[in-house]
Amino acid sequence: MNTKSLEKNKHSWEAAAERFYGRNPLPEYGPMAPLEDDLNLFGDITNLKVLDIGCGSGHSLQYMNQRNAAELWGLDLSEKQINAARSLLVNCGSSVQLFQSPMELNPGLPENYFDIVYSIYALGWTTDLDKTLSNINKYLKQGGVFVFSWEHPLHSRVSNEGGALTFNKSYHEEGPYDHEGWGNPAIMQQFRISTYMNTLISHGFQIEKVIEDVWCSEEDIQRHENRWYSFEKAKSIPTTLIIKSRKL
Ligand SMILES: C[S@@+](CC[C@H](N)C(=O)[O-])C[C@H]1O[C@@H](n2cnc3c(N)ncnc32)[C@H](O)[C@@H]1O
Repeated sequence: MNTKSLEKNKHSWEAAAERFYGRNPLPEYGPMAPLEDDLNLFGDITNLKVLDIGCGSGHSLQYMNQRNAAELWGLDLSEKQINAARSLLVNCGSSVQLFQSPMELNPGLPENYFDIVYSIYALGWTTDLDKTLSNINKYLKQGGVFVFSWEHPLHSRVSNEGGALTFNKSYHEEGPYDHEGWGNPAIMQQFRISTYMNTLISHGFQIEKVIEDVWCSEEDIQRHENRWYSFEKAKSIPTTLIIKSRKL
């Protein structure tokens, strides 16, 4: 765990929290990614215990509540995000437990307890993928499902310069980097797809599905058109990686 990066990122997320309020939550998996409505990776959630890693403003937990999950649990590095999630879920009628904590640590979450753990566009912030996936494996019951989405690892490696796509860095190079598309100083982590998959496997997960498809409605083409994501680029490079795995 890298405490300095976590401090920097916490500071950055406290400043960015409002900008990200309710941005791309479930059923969305991320910009220009297929929807849970079509993928159905979770199946029937009724009466299940779910845990959201990097829950942000709580909108994905709200979606889980609308699908009749029994217990809603979440953790997030940012106090502002946790407060936003707490307000959003206050009258949702389900049991809600929220923790302000880095995902690299267990803030007191029960082990062998959850039917579903998921993380929407948060896992790539971890300063310790190994420890984070080890924690997640422990939280799950045997046979429990872990689904995460994150920016596709090729996306930041390729720049779109007036329609020409060029590699700005090697895909093979992993580790921390300053995210140029991010307003406040923040450190993100680059992992190859094989690293995500092999780390999941080494912690006792069986991989069930890997999704790199791009899906976009006409309206989404405009909505996601910014400096970082563009439909033009997405025609050649996936924006989002989604992996579904199960605890053996
Ligand atoms: C894009 S937002 C997530 C949105 C949320 N998952 C949703 O579905 O609406 C990313 C979140 O990751 C959190 N985060 C960043 N680094 C983290 C870490 N090391 N541990 C836990 N949360 C972290 C941020 O505070 C932020 O709320």
